[in-house]
Formats: sequence, structure tokens, C-alpha cells
Amino acid sequence: MPVSAPTPAEIATLHQRATEAAQNSYSPYSRFRVGAAILLHPDDSQEGAIVAGTNVENASYRLTCCAEQAAIAAAVTLYGPAIRIRAVAVVNLNGAASMPCGACRQTILEFADPETPVFYPSANGETVAATLAELLPAAFRLTPK
Ligand code: THU
Repeated sequence: MPVSAPTPAEIATLHQRATEAAQNSYSPYSRFRVGAAILLHPDDSQEGAIVAGTNVENASYRLTCCAEQAAIAAAVTLYGPAIRIRAVAVVNLNGAASMPCGACRQTILEFADPETPVFYPSANGETVAATLAELLPAAFRLTPK
């Protein structure tokens, strides 16, 4: 499926939805409030549908769910297993850099293409755009014989 680049309006809405989701962050341990929003291909949902998620921590720290994974789980729940991701935005309310963690990069790849853009805040507060292939080169793919 060809990837159409997100419009400036779609990117702005992605950031807004991610920021709104971050307000609901359950992060009593790290106090790091993350929001993620994913833009879906129109074939899978309403035109320009956006689904957001936030991080949900746990007293058993490793059970924490990242914002990106929460957004993807919500999107599959809402629109089904055929969803494809056109763009991702990650934000945090801490004024810090936050690129998707390694596990989230692999999770995004499951539903996206290598050229899918991911927007995230850099250390100086500016939003950076990188493709998934740049963030996750030599990604794992299951190719059983
Ligand atoms: N976190 C995310 O939500 N997404 C990432 O890609 C990296 C980390 C969350 C998990 C945890 O609640 C907090 O940030 C600190 O690691």
C-alpha cells in the first residue's frame, strides 16, 4: 500500500491528540507523562482517523504499557486487525526528549511501513521527524521456513 505523507493539518491534530492523551497518563512511578497518536490509512477506517494512547505504569515496573503500544492496541480494538499506520506522533508533558523505545519501534513496524514517519520531541524541545526504518534498521521480521 503506498504511503501518502501526512498533511500539516493531520500532523498538528496528531500532536494535539497525543498531548490530550498524555493528560491521562498513569505514571506514579516515573512521573513521565507520555502520549502517542497514530494516523490510520483511510482504507481501514474513517478518513484520517487518529487513535491515541498514554502510558500506564504498574507497581511491577516491567508490566508498564507504553503510550505507543496503548494507542496501537486501541486502534486494533476499534478498527480491527487490518489497520495500517500512516504516521505516529509521540509527546510528553515533561519537556523532555522522548523517542519511541525499542519495543515500541518494533510494535509500530508490525502495522506500518519502513518509510512511515514518526514525530517525537528532541532534547532541545523541537519536534523531529524520522522514518521507522531510520529508527529501527535491520528490524526483526518473522520469516519461518
Ligand atoms: N514510555 C512510553 O510511554 N513510551 C516510550 O516509547 C518510552 C517510555 C513510558 C514508559 C514509562 O511509563 C515511562 O515512559 C518512563 O519510562
